[in-house]
Amino acid sequence: MFTLRWGWGLGCLRLCQLRAWAPEASVPWACGACQARMYGSGGSKPEVSPSGPARPSLKEWALMVSPFGRLRARLPCHLAVKPLDPISHPDNNHVLVAVSGVEGAAQAVAGLQVTYDEAQKEVIIVSDVIDPQASVEVSAPLMFDLNIKSSGSGCVKVQNFECDNCRIETEQGTSILQSVKSQKLHIESKGGKVICLGTIYGNIDIHASDKSTVTVNKLQGSSVNISTEDGLLKAKYLYTESSFLSSAAGDISLGSVHGNITLQSKLGNITVDSSSGCLNASTHQGAIDVYVSHLGKVDLKSHKGSILVKVASSLQAYLQLSGKKIDVNSEVHVEEMNEAHKDDGVVITGLLNQASKNEKWIKADAPQGTISFRSQSWFQSLKLLD
Ligand SMILES: *[C@@H]1O[C@H](CO)[C@@H](O)[C@H](O)[C@H]1NC(C)=O
Ligand SMILES: *[C@@H]1O[C@H](CO)[C@@H](O)[C@H](O)[C@H]1NC(C)=O
Ligand SMILES: *[C@@H]1O[C@H](CO)[C@@H](O)[C@H](O)[C@H]1NC(C)=O
Ligand SMILES: *[C@@H]1O[C@H](CO)[C@@H](O)[C@H](O)[C@H]1NC(C)=O
Repeated sequence: MFTLRWGWGLGCLRLCQLRAWAPEASVPWACGACQARMYGSGGSKPEVSPSGPARPSLKEWALMVSPFGRLRARLPCHLAVKPLDPISHPDNNHVLVAVSGVEGAAQAVAGLQVTYDEAQKEVIIVSDVIDPQASVEVSAPLMFDLNIKSSGSGCVKVQNFECDNCRIETEQGTSILQSVKSQKLHIESKGGKVICLGTIYGNIDIHASDKSTVTVNKLQGSSVNISTEDGLLKAKYLYTESSFLSSAAGDISLGSVHGNITLQSKLGNITVDSSSGCLNASTHQGAIDVYVSHLGKVDLKSHKGSILVKVASSLQAYLQLSGKKIDVNSEVHVEEMNEAHKDDGVVITGLLNQASKNEKWIKADAPQGTISFRSQSWFQSLKLLD
């Protein structure tokens, strides 16, 4: 938090430039530092940890703003956004900007423009020439919209924030979102990692191209779209009405997912530790491995790979499995089982645990691979999630 007195004196309505030195205000950036904490470390407070001595702020601004405005940033360096401290700013009508950079490099901040367009209610932070190692920290009132583009290796971090519309675009830099609520959250990356920590609420659209990976702890929203090209797409918890997740060459690896979910990959494997709802997964070359705990309709297809389906032991479902080879575990009770051989494969249909025929079903199709079907206890699937 900014603990210094900002001294909103009179005549300081729009733009105050302060020379105060604020060591706490400048959390140095370490893009890679938080990535190791992503999964399974049990760390409840992931933070970007300082990787060296704190760097002093080189320059600071305080802008008086109207509520429900917008931040527009175009920067080639790091940018962090967090909420304005309500204790030191109860009126909630300021945007504070601090820039820190490599020590002693005053020219690092040369050319950084920080302005407020009153008509547009827009705070604008722009620079083409700022040192890429510099970092800009912004504290803004909640419900400020964000429109951020970073170029080069500039990272973006948004923490504990709420907004209607939040748009973040990076090139090679990492984007980190931690505990963000947004009606519409749009993230694009052209090579940098996208990392979502804590819970992200809202309708989310993430497009990561090239080798960008997307790693998500928990997403909750009505509509979620995520795509990667070569990178891994990993999410621990998804609570959505409908999600569409796709990858070209990356694996899709999901923990516990709820709601109607469509997954598509060309080359990557698809793994779902636990699915409740409708699941439609297809891959061209990859393998599919899913555990179905509660179901609507489950439709799985691997054109060239194999499919492993695990189900809760009491799950009722109509089954239709077709593959080059099918292996149904003996613990699974299939009634009215019918096995047909056609062309180069086998088709098995049947009813699992006295299911009725139409309501809920599992279809799996692996024309060139093996379908393995077995039951697994809920407990086993929980253990997998840890
Ligand atoms: C996700 O994609 C679907 C179909 O392309 C679209 O209708 C929906 O609005 C998208 N959701 C978000 C949050 O962008
Ligand atoms: C999932 O899709 C089914 C139809 O396929 C629909 O009846 C159901 O309401 C959907 N569930 C949610 C949570 O949107
Ligand atoms: C699953 O997706 C495939 C291809 O996208 C489509 O043909 C199929 O009808 C879908 N299944 C369900 C149950 O929606
Ligand atoms: C994909 O799954 C198959 C079968 O389980 C496995 O042999 C292969 O190593 C997996 N590929 C990757 C990239 O994890």
